[in-house]
Amino acid sequence: MLFEEKVDLNRAKKDYSTPKSIQKYRDLAQNYGLWKSESIVIKKFLNKEALVLDIGCGAGRTTFGLYELGYKNLLGVDISKKLIKQAKAIAKSKNIKIKFEVGNCLILNYGNNSFDAVFFSYNGLMTIPGYHNRMKAVSEINRVLKENGIFIFTTHDRNQNPDRINEWSQEKKKWLNGTQDQRYFDFGDKFVNDNGQELFLHIPDTKEVYSMLTKNNFEILYTKSRSEICPVPEHEKKEFGECRFFVAKKVKH
Ligand SMILES: C[S@@+](CC[C@H](N)C(=O)[O-])C[C@H]1O[C@@H](n2cnc3c(N)ncnc32)[C@H](O)[C@@H]1O
Repeated sequence: MLFEEKVDLNRAKKDYSTPKSIQKYRDLAQNYGLWKSESIVIKKFLNKEALVLDIGCGAGRTTFGLYELGYKNLLGVDISKKLIKQAKAIAKSKNIKIKFEVGNCLILNYGNNSFDAVFFSYNGLMTIPGYHNRMKAVSEINRVLKENGIFIFTTHDRNQNPDRINEWSQEKKKWLNGTQDQRYFDFGDKFVNDNGQELFLHIPDTKEVYSMLTKNNFEILYTKSRSEICPVPEHEKKEFGECRFFVAKKVKH
């Protein structure tokens, strides 16, 4: 087998800076807004005065959605300079004052105990290759949150889709005999086809997410799949697929 480099840590920056991604996330920010499930979870756990860091905000779908829901203390951050440029342009065209910055959640440019809440939507955390890198991101998120601060995010769930059980058991066999895609870091890594574009994603199970959170001083308050929270409109199912929400609270070391 030819030697292949592991997925590049800058992969997300590239994946989310292509013309296709820019068009997709600009359209989502301009025309979509928050999922109903996102609104329900946010309203359940965050009060309107909360200072919210929206990580992986893309062109601002969730940041503008939060604003429309009445959250005005917002900061949107994304690793893709091109998506942040779109978010700023949309804010200007809507005459909305939200700060958007380029930033990497592996090394956040903010002090300890700065935010009441962090939101990382639409599987953004799982676009980071390598378990140790995702651990670093979760540890950074914990650092910038105030004590009792809330972290809300969504991921795919490896065990959620019965149609995929067979696929994952085949993949497990490959890992056991070393024939998995050599670009992968961890079991659960996958290249997905998004509208003709190959994107990297890690698909965890709930056990892995629980462990990642508890090892980084979070207490898990809530987890539900999107369709358990509310009926999911057909167009939303098609556009975003199923996913699982996690809500965790920063606790003392
Ligand atoms: C699936 S997109 C979601 C965008 C937006 N939240 C939405 O729902 O439209 C994931 C986003 O996470 C961002 N991202 C990935 N890794 C990141 C990192 N290390 N730091 C900050 N943003 C990151 C990507 O650039 C991308 O915009």
